[in-house]
Amino acid sequence: MTEATNTQRDLCFADAYMSAILVENVDNYIADGIVVNLSTDIIYVEGEVDTPIQPWRSATLRGNAVRKADRIAVLKIENLEQLGGVMLRGWDWFGDIYNGFPRETPLFMSSIDSVGFVTEDPFVFTRERTDVRKPQQFEIKLKCWWSPNETDCFIHNEHPFLEVHTQIHGYGRMQKFRERDAATVYEDVIMAPGFTHEPFCIVTGENEWTYPWHRYYTDLESIWLAIELHPVD
Ligand SMILES: [Fe+2]
Repeated sequence: MTEATNTQRDLCFADAYMSAILVENVDNYIADGIVVNLSTDIIYVEGEVDTPIQPWRSATLRGNAVRKADRIAVLKIENLEQLGGVMLRGWDWFGDIYNGFPRETPLFMSSIDSVGFVTEDPFVFTRERTDVRKPQQFEIKLKCWWSPNETDCFIHNEHPFLEVHTQIHGYGRMQKFRERDAATVYEDVIMAPGFTHEPFCIVTGENEWTYPWHRYYTDLESIWLAIELHPVD
């Protein structure tokens, strides 16, 4: 018996404003939207010549096929009118989840979708090496963030997981700081729709990752996808 291909389901934050699909066991899946490679292999996209999407990175496809992949997500903004009403359709103000979050910051978070497990070497994830030597199990969790323009989405440096982000809508930047102070910014990673930034952390121990002080900052109203790899004991 052959295994089913292109098995798909909606991600939990999909709605009439933003489609969001998880596709597994991909075989020449025709994609229309932002495709995120949620696997540890380079995947290939059909075209004039086939071109790659690196692990944990993304591309914006317009009706061409993803050749083969263990797992991808495909997101697309479907309706701009009232897109910013996420808090009226179930997204949480981050201050209701994280104690001490500034009361004046309009940052909202979708529900979290656990999409499955992956075997990844954290040193490969962080690009500190290319060969797999210490693979371990991670649970992949996806969620989306929304903020209006010119929002400081909080400088922080602690995560018990590996993370990257894909811009889905609008424009913003992931920023790195020398201290927990916006004036000490030393890098802006410009986030435009369809783009996924490189990991910000390095491996500094068993399930321990060191991040610089960083934050997301919106230039224009933005939705961005968080891709998190949580270690499984
Ligand atoms: Fe972060």
